[in-house]
Amino acid sequence: MKLNIAVLSGDGIGPEVTNQAIKALEAVADRFNHFFTFKEALIGAIAIEKTGSPLPDKTLELCSTTDAILFGAIGATKYDNDPIAKIRPEQGLLKLRKALGLYANIRPIKAYDSILKRSPLRSRITKGIDITIYRELTGGIYFGEQHLSDDGTVASDLCQYSQLEIERIAHMAFKDAQKRRKKLTLVDKANVLESSRLWRRVISDMASQYSDVEVKYMFADNAASQLLKKPSQFDVILTDNMFGDILSEAASVIGGSIGILPSASLGDNFCMFDPYHSSYNRATGKGIANPIAAILSAAMLLEHFDLHEEAQSIKTAVEKALELNLTTPDLNKEKPFTTEKIGDFIGDYIQEPQEGNINYYNIYMGQSTII
Ligand code: IPM
Ligand code: MG
Repeated sequence: MKLNIAVLSGDGIGPEVTNQAIKALEAVADRFNHFFTFKEALIGAIAIEKTGSPLPDKTLELCSTTDAILFGAIGATKYDNDPIAKIRPEQGLLKLRKALGLYANIRPIKAYDSILKRSPLRSRITKGIDITIYRELTGGIYFGEQHLSDDGTVASDLCQYSQLEIERIAHMAFKDAQKRRKKLTLVDKANVLESSRLWRRVISDMASQYSDVEVKYMFADNAASQLLKKPSQFDVILTDNMFGDILSEAASVIGGSIGILPSASLGDNFCMFDPYHSSYNRATGKGIANPIAAILSAAMLLEHFDLHEEAQSIKTAVEKALELNLTTPDLNKEKPFTTEKIGDFIGDYIQEPQEGNINYYNIYMGQSTII
């Protein structure tokens, strides 16, 4: 298959982790005879620095003419410390999501046995956890009308949803639930918010079309605690933009590190793949950023194009790296490996998986550049 991929690596650790995802995709192209091209474009703080805009027209143009987008991360300390800055890196990402109609953000949470102990939660709670969060991404309070009174003392953000916006992501979530454990939990605040009551009405009306899926409803505050107390009760979680942002990050502690969690943002015409984590500017260039979230995002890209065996080859290589403890300091403080080294290992393993070959293990452990 031929795929043109736009690379928006962004700020902080974005470029270094995205490079490892490209390495994995190049290894897949080599082994399975595909042809992938990569074209880079600016977004975020670096784009503001170079062009004055967090999403230059050229970037949007490239994204609307490629098959898929690999996204790294955006953000810079300068803006985090200046909440009233008018032009901000985040605007680039939000504008991109909206312009391309990427309304469904899919965030899987998986606990790998080999790193179960790295989670701050008890293993009996996290073992075997496999949840997928469907977060609505182009509506709600993120995109509602904003207002600040003339004297600057009163502000508001409107949380608005239409039935259509709810239905289109709900269809995706229901269909996924049908292929999984057939459970869907709608997370909202229907006890307080009118917009949440609309979500509930729409989902309960749709439920009859997916009668094999068991539908549950849960308030967001309760869901935050249930995710950490008994995550095994969840299969597919469907929720709005803001609750999805918060709950997915809370759930990221289940697997031991946010550094291993990928995501996909899908619409009817475009698709983007990016790690959950932020730009982690303090770590930039130190080789300590975990590349696995970005690499698994590349696997989600392949799955999106029905390249299942190819995606599996990435996942197998990642699992091997985790098993061998070839990981960055977030998972391995004792003997960490660099971002680059882990990317090299995963790329090599995709091309030549050598199960049971003791030399393989020795080569990587022996020649490793330990930080
Ligand atoms: C995320 C991030 C973004 C969001 C920020 C960077 C705008 O936190 O993708 O989860 O809030 O959606
Ligand atoms: Mg977030």
